[in-house]
Amino acid sequence: MSTVLSSKVAYAGIGFLLTLISGVVLSKMGRPLNSAVFGAHKIIAVGTIVLIGLNIRDLAQVVGLQAVHPALIWGTGLLLLALVVSGSLLSFDKLVLPLTLRVHQIVPLLALAFSALSIYLLANGRS
Ligand code: HEM
Repeated sequence: MSTVLSSKVAYAGIGFLLTLISGVVLSKMGRPLNSAVFGAHKIIAVGTIVLIGLNIRDLAQVVGLQAVHPALIWGTGLLLLALVVSGSLLSFDKLVLPLTLRVHQIVPLLALAFSALSIYLLANGRS
């Protein structure tokens, strides 16, 4: 993996960590949501999702997508989408349901596992 690509992977990892931390801080601060922490959580989350997508695209261009089972790529995309949808629902006080919150608490760990595995397999695939 090139240095440019490996630093992009590192940025995605740091972004994911910051998203998790800002999410937990936001949750602990309670409602009404703290707008500064909420804004930071959203921006870092969206930036991280874009970085994960770019990493997968760039690595797939080098080794080809066949290095990873399609279910893993689709799973990563769907889990990240579920985070944006559940996060958007949680942004509105009237739409906060226990299920939505539970989804937004569990899916981050699954999304981390899926995206890290996809990137790992692509980074170790043969060109
Ligand atoms: C990579 C994407 C994301 C990850 C990994 C993530 C992760 C988290 C985590 C771990 C929490 C704390 C949950 C808890 O401990 O109860 C949280 C809370 C929250 N997130 Fe996200 N999030 C992401 C994207 C988003 C987006 C895009 C939005 C909004 C559009 C959003 C809105 C929220 C809100 C409103 C809360 C507070 C929920 C509450 O406690 O009422 N999140 N997030």
